[in-house]
Amino acid sequence: MAKKPSFACNDCGNITTKWSGRCEACGAWNSIAEDAGLSSSGPAKVGLGTVRGRAVQLTNLSTEEAPPPRTLSGLNELDRVLGGGLVPASATLVGGDPGIGKSTLLLQAAAQFANVGLKTIYVSGEESSAQIRMRALRLGLTDAPVQLAAETNLRDILTTLEIEKPQLAIIDSIQTMWSDSVGSAPGSVAQVRAAAHELTSFAKRVGMAVILVGHVTKDGQIAGPRVVEHMVDTVLYFEGERGHQFRILRAVKNRFGPSDEIGVFEMTGMGLAQVTNPSALFLSERGTPSPGSVVFAGVEGTRPVLVELQALVAPSPHSQPRRTVVGWDGGRLAMILAVLEARVGIPFTGLDVYLNVAGGMKITEPAADLAVAAALLSAREDAALPAETVVFGEISLSGALRPAPQTENRLKEAQKLGFTGALAPAGGKGVSVKGIALNQMSDLTAFVGDVFGA
Ligand code: TYD
Ligand code: MG
Repeated sequence: MAKKPSFACNDCGNITTKWSGRCEACGAWNSIAEDAGLSSSGPAKVGLGTVRGRAVQLTNLSTEEAPPPRTLSGLNELDRVLGGGLVPASATLVGGDPGIGKSTLLLQAAAQFANVGLKTIYVSGEESSAQIRMRALRLGLTDAPVQLAAETNLRDILTTLEIEKPQLAIIDSIQTMWSDSVGSAPGSVAQVRAAAHELTSFAKRVGMAVILVGHVTKDGQIAGPRVVEHMVDTVLYFEGERGHQFRILRAVKNRFGPSDEIGVFEMTGMGLAQVTNPSALFLSERGTPSPGSVVFAGVEGTRPVLVELQALVAPSPHSQPRRTVVGWDGGRLAMILAVLEARVGIPFTGLDVYLNVAGGMKITEPAADLAVAAALLSAREDAALPAETVVFGEISLSGALRPAPQTENRLKEAQKLGFTGALAPAGGKGVSVKGIALNQMSDLTAFVGDVFGA
């Protein structure tokens, strides 16, 4: 019987027997392609092997068998996102848009790790060794004892790794690697998965750490990094706006550390520079307080970050007013607008609403709710918030304000950057930070009355 064709989504890796314009699993359009190397039928029946898979008692694991310690690269922003350095025999995926700076970051990381004594190999499937050298020259890294290889054939790479026995291998990028044992074209879901599987299992077997680079793809011809997320221990995304120099390395999954940490970098002519005080950077473009502008005291992982939120509210010429959000969740904005209307009686009907997080930062914290509400109201009422005031807190559907975690951290950061006041939900532990006048309110109506005198 002829083998049925199978199709895979290049975005999420979902397998179907039928082609369709839209992936049923993740909703992506035009992402489904035929994938010869995959089958949707269940796994073949597995016979018993001759060797037993060895199991050990948890209590019998002595500390000598514990894995060797993590290695710190000295790039603090990277080490923190990794959960406190690189774990031996671990697999890490670094995803990001093309051109965002992944190769730059990883070449710098390779040099740092090599400099602290880790035997490191950087395998590029996209650039020749001469091109990598040119980049290294530009980054001032030519002295670092990093091994370079320009190779795309998986078999050749594994052979090289077997001979060289590095402690860290960086594969740039996973989409360019191909295995001759898989029938489909390089870049397909099957190839990308096979390459990731081979490399991670090799890494686990020999105790080498591996970092895979994956481009986020837009057109669906090439599999995206999401199809290998489940195979690795740590997933990091490198984000940023092309027009801005800030870059954020964000942990979205980490078996060895907190998964919400961020590292902040700045793209310079000499590569990526660490940003040790992101709040100062994100607020650097802020002018005098104006209507619609609010400073949100946020926390990313363990680190407080102040960012400016900007809102614009204007009468809409359209029958369906616009709701445009950059750097925040559009659904969450709709919720805040609904709560303002239903609980406080402030409608936004007939008004266009634009919300922007300055500096190209993306905020995911619910504690941004109150800052967003403040920005929307400030824009709508054309009234600036009291100067040098930060805002944070979650808003519930009832209009009640919920205290945010790490209040003290947020206040301390605000104080460090010269702020003198904070608007926040009541409740939680009584925290006070010298130099910050903390104004606490228990619901949105009280907040609006207090701040906007409505
Ligand atoms: P790159 O690391 O090649 O991106 P990726 O691997 O994610 O595709 O970075 C590409 C961009 O970075 C490119 O537009 C030029 C810029 N860049 C600098 O601004 N300074 C530098 O020192 C380097 C090496 C690159
Ligand atoms: Mg690259």
